[in-house]
Amino acid sequence: MAGYDAIILGAGAAGLMCASVAGQRGKSVLLIDHADQPGKKILISGGGRCNFTNIHTAPDRYLSANPHFAKSALGRYAPQDFIDLVDRYGIAWHEKTLGQLFCDGSAKQIVAMLVEECAKGGVEIACGASIGGVEHRDGMFHVACGARTAAAPALVIATGGPSIPKMGATGFAYELARKFRLKVVEPRPALVPLTLGPGEALFHALAGVSAEVMAVCGKVRFREAALFTHRGLSGPAILQVSSYWRNGETIGIDFQPDRAPGWLREAKRAMPRATLSKILAEGLSDRLAIALADRLGIVGELANLTDVKLEAAERRIADWRFTPSGSEGFAKAEVTVGGISTADLSSQTMEARKVPGLYAIGEAVDVTGWLGGYNFQWAWASGWAAAQAL
Ligand code: FDA
Repeated sequence: MAGYDAIILGAGAAGLMCASVAGQRGKSVLLIDHADQPGKKILISGGGRCNFTNIHTAPDRYLSANPHFAKSALGRYAPQDFIDLVDRYGIAWHEKTLGQLFCDGSAKQIVAMLVEECAKGGVEIACGASIGGVEHRDGMFHVACGARTAAAPALVIATGGPSIPKMGATGFAYELARKFRLKVVEPRPALVPLTLGPGEALFHALAGVSAEVMAVCGKVRFREAALFTHRGLSGPAILQVSSYWRNGETIGIDFQPDRAPGWLREAKRAMPRATLSKILAEGLSDRLAIALADRLGIVGELANLTDVKLEAAERRIADWRFTPSGSEGFAKAEVTVGGISTADLSSQTMEARKVPGLYAIGEAVDVTGWLGGYNFQWAWASGWAAAQAL
């Protein structure tokens, strides 16, 4: 049986970071993954260019039952630390929008960099290895993996969440957590398209149309693009609110987020012969403008409409209510909200309070970032924090 200082389960973003840092700190590390190669989600991320961090990273851009939990790790390993690493490897990058940093070239460069960092730390990577079982006895974790068993005084759960099972994602982290009596906050698909029921047939017909909107769910609001799909709503603004949305709740969409109150009355004075759909088409696609005007039942010239009717239309356009019938689920979700409860982990080291030597990092933990590089930053930061303690 092979002995190590630490065994890390899951060679994704968090596992690769944790393994490379621990290895370079002189620890002997075994990194195990059932996939045939490490970092598969990194490879498909950001449309193949990997949105590897966000320069506006701050704890309030993460969802968790304990909003304070992520502060320590995010504070100690900042976006600039990862940018420095990327720069050391000469990987060219650019800011796309809203602080989101992407590779100019390919996400493959990020995986190659992390694998190289692991090699520098002498990390042994075992891919294509399914984990048979994990036992804890005499202060050691014993992991059966294929034909071999490995043992270490420290075990890191870095197997991510169940989003996109066809990429090798599983709920294994939760099974293992429960085995060690750690609580799991109910996992839900997040950053996921929302579906609309048959009552919204008019909007299904708009599949492919997008608009710059303000999407609102409860107290959160996101000013980004929304996209109509055959099944419902998608696009960055919708993915963002989906992480906060619960079954049965409505979401609001402001289709004219830049207009000042009273703009339709103004339009009536300035262009009395125009129709509502024509005015809306100044900022929206023709198809969407017509659909909104149809839904509002406003077809004639503005001059023939009362100010009261125009004000009512303005209010609907600024807060169009949708009640999604559901989401497209884990099959289409970029991440998972919920996971291993932060109440059972140290925010400094990610170590389980009740099980010394057991750690959980990355998406497996109940910390979920906004769209835009925040989730990788959490993976790097939590992996780095655990590596300091191994
Ligand atoms: P991750 O999922 O990366 O790694 C877990 C590893 O564990 C995998 O390699 C898996 O094979 C392995 N594993 C799982 N179960 C196992 C088992 N039973 N036995 C052995 N191994 C097992 N985020 C971001 O910040 N910017 C972006 O651009 C994107 N883009 C993006 C696109 C798409 C399509 C998706 C699905 C997701 C994103 N994300 C993202 C989210 C990001 O990919 C995610 O938050 C991180 O990969 C989480 O890192 P982890 O290391 O925690 O899990």
